[in-house]
Amino acid sequence: EALLAARRDLEGRTVLVTAGPTREPLDPIRFLSNRSSGKMGFALAEAARDRGARVVLVTGPVHLPDPAGVQVIRVETAAQMLEAVLRHAPAADAVIKAAAVADFRPARPAAHKIKKEAGAPVVELEPTPDILKELGRRKAPGQVLVGFAAETQDLLENANRKIREKNLDLIVLNDVTQPGAGFEVDTNIVTLVYRDGRHEALPPMPKRQVADAILDRLPWPRVRREA
Ligand code: CTP
Ligand code: CA
Repeated sequence: EALLAARRDLEGRTVLVTAGPTREPLDPIRFLSNRSSGKMGFALAEAARDRGARVVLVTGPVHLPDPAGVQVIRVETAAQMLEAVLRHAPAADAVIKAAAVADFRPARPAAHKIKKEAGAPVVELEPTPDILKELGRRKAPGQVLVGFAAETQDLLENANRKIREKNLDLIVLNDVTQPGAGFEVDTNIVTLVYRDGRHEALPPMPKRQVADAILDRLPWPRVRREA
């Protein structure tokens, strides 16, 4: 325990966080996924909890234990994540979408194991639902919506476009080409991009510190939303 009293600035708030990758099945034993470890989302959930929030964490498959004092919902696919998130979003004062949701899924997952005798399969993909965009459509007045963006080029242009397209208040931009940023590592190098176009580059920090920096800067609207 820290000697200094923790800031309890999120007391009375509900924060919904998503974390990890999603898994999109090809057949009963194979899937498409990505390198997300879930560490950034779990750090956000723990930081929000420590600051007094009620925290709901919807996570894809990751090798991390449930954080104490957090309501954890484990899902696999983008469709399952969408369902869980839409169930909990109406009660949330802030939604922070750190999950690395697969953009595409096999259009017709095989009911049985794909056998190699049949030759290399051609797998047709279809888009998954854009969970964050759906949250942006349904955003209640007073709710804060935070997205993440992993980019390798045209970082600020892409971030600004995503803020507009998804009706976000803040986007956490990750240059995944830098060592010490993004997937699988314990540190992150992010730039926070706000709706009004302002942006702030944070120095490389452990993910827990990045989480607290994000929570310090949540652009709360002036009017508090109805319970
Ligand atoms: N996201 C989501 N649902 C999806 C895809 C992405 O909710 N099906 C969310 C992610 O959780 C993240 C944000 O959208 O908070 C941005 O994800 P990113 O992959 O950077 O952007 P995309 O909109 O998917 O565009 P692209 O991958 O083409 O850059
Ligand atoms: Ca994507």
